[in-house]
Order: sequence, then structure tokens, then C-alpha cells
Amino acid sequence: MDKTSMILDVDTGIDDAYAVLFAALHPNINLLGITCVDGNTNVDQVVANTLKVLDAAGAPDIPVARGATRPLLGPSVYAEYVHGADGMGDLSIERSSRTVDSRAAIELLRDLIEGSHEPVTLVPVAPLTNIALFLRAFPESAKKIHRILLMGGSASAGNATPAAEFNIWHDPEAAAIVFHSGVPITMYGLDVFMRPGITQQEAAKLRSSQSRPAQFAGELIEAFIARLGIATVTLGDYGAVAAAIHPELFSTELFDVVVDTSPGPGRGATICDRRDAFLRDFEPISLENPATVSVVMDLDVEAVRQLWLKTIDKGWS
Ligand code: RIB
Ligand code: CA
Repeated sequence: MDKTSMILDVDTGIDDAYAVLFAALHPNINLLGITCVDGNTNVDQVVANTLKVLDAAGAPDIPVARGATRPLLGPSVYAEYVHGADGMGDLSIERSSRTVDSRAAIELLRDLIEGSHEPVTLVPVAPLTNIALFLRAFPESAKKIHRILLMGGSASAGNATPAAEFNIWHDPEAAAIVFHSGVPITMYGLDVFMRPGITQQEAAKLRSSQSRPAQFAGELIEAFIARLGIATVTLGDYGAVAAAIHPELFSTELFDVVVDTSPGPGRGATICDRRDAFLRDFEPISLENPATVSVVMDLDVEAVRQLWLKTIDKGWS
């Protein structure tokens, strides 16, 4: 398998950490850099958390840049009830000695995409504010993005609200800009997001591993389990990274999609036209100016779980 040149955009966040660990450790991913955005917690805390995760991964000096401090229009709304006050399960993890890149997130995105001799896959697993700003600030560089595989949205129900998934709901205007960018988009959303889970027993096994990344991951999972009060928790954002390098483990469908940017109860919904071809042609009303998006609708759960476990803990069996 060829290496995939990848940039992550994160709001680290416990499940963002699973994604960063995996991307930093997987031999077929060339992690060019990471951009941070306001989302689960404030962007400065996201930067600090992301640097700590790279420490736990024993990663090389991968550039991490600070991005948007809030959504394009609305206020920040943090998910501390899920990820803890510090966004990382309140584990009091030691501050990293790594330093944030001097460039703003959109400048790092520009430089990494312009500087890459390989096609670049952009994997945002957070609100899309940075990506929208980048598309508007550097449209010529944006044209060079190979594809965007984003964690966000839903062709079914929401989580942050009955209609909307958190990353899209946090900044619907940014999501609308990204969905209409013309860059090929695969949406890894709530239709599959919750399915690759990790049990309390597996977390304990990771924590007792000889591998530092595994120990760190085990501690995070246990914090997540304790906070949510359930015995199995999702690997969440990691699934989008897995979908980028192992498409054979996932199945997708093409839908016309619009992001609801209205102020009503549907704000932040990714409205997917799932009607069959007959109805779509027969009915007089269609989505106005939709984006055509490849939506992940199924996956090989056990293979995706094992891929993560064996990457995080090389001795896993
Ligand atoms: O809805 C799930 C998404 O919201 C994940 O990216 C999680 O980290 C939070 O950002
Ligand atoms: Ca996230």
C-alpha cells in the first residue's frame, strides 16, 4: 500500500486523540501536519492537547498550528460534558515541551499543500472553520487538495441536536463553504461514527501494555467510559482516518447534500436526498444547489477496531 500524505484538522478532544495517535503511528500515513480549531474546547487547549498526544505517540516533530478561535458567525459552544474541562478527560496530562508552529492554521495548510509532491488528503475531524477560511484565503492552493475525508454530518439523526451532528452544528456556514468547495468530499458521519467501539476490558489491557501509546489510549478510553457511564465507547474520529487509508473496509453512497444554515431547529443538519431515483425525478421539489457527497453508510466494524488496536499497540492480540 502506498503512503497517504495527510493533514488532520482537530479539536482535540478524546476521540480526536485516537485519530492523531493512529495517524502518527500508522506506517502508511505520512502525517504532514495538524491544524487546530475551536470546537470541543477552546483552540489554545486544543493545541496543548494535540501536542500532548504527539508526545504519547513518540511522534517526530510534526507541525501543529493554531487556527480559528470561534465559528465564522456564531458563538463557541464547548463539549466539556463529553471531553472534560480540558478536552482530554481531565487526566492532568503533563504539558508538552513541543511548541506550536509560528504560522496560523491556514498558512500551514497552504504551505503543506503547496510543498507536497504527493496528493494531499485533508481529514478534518472538527468544526470546519479552519477549512472554510483556508478555502477563501488561498483558493489556488485549495484546488490542489486531493480529497477531503471529514468526520461530520449525518444522513440520519443528529447528536448535538435532534437534527445536527456537533462538528457541522458548531459552524454550519463553514460546513456549507466546504461542501460547495468542489473538492471531492467523503463524509464520515453519525451513520457509522458510533459503531467501532472499545470495551472497558480492552481499555484495561491497553493501559497495562508495554507500549506508551497504548497506555495513553487506555487511560483516555477509561476516562471516556467513566465520564459517559457506559461500558463501551466509540473510537469516533479515528474512523475517518481509517476510511482514508482503507476504503475497502467501508461502503459509501453518493447523495445530494445541503447544509441547513437556517436559525431554526434544523440548523447544522446535513440534509441528504435519500429518495430513490424515481422519486427524485418524479417529485417537483429537489434540494437547491446541493453538493454531491460520498457518504459512509457501512463498515467492517471488527476490522476497523482491530486496525486501530494493532496500530496503537503493536503487540495486541
Ligand atoms: O459529533 C462528533 C464530533 O464532535 C467528533 O469530532 C467529536 O470529537 C466532536 O468534535
Ligand atoms: Ca473532533
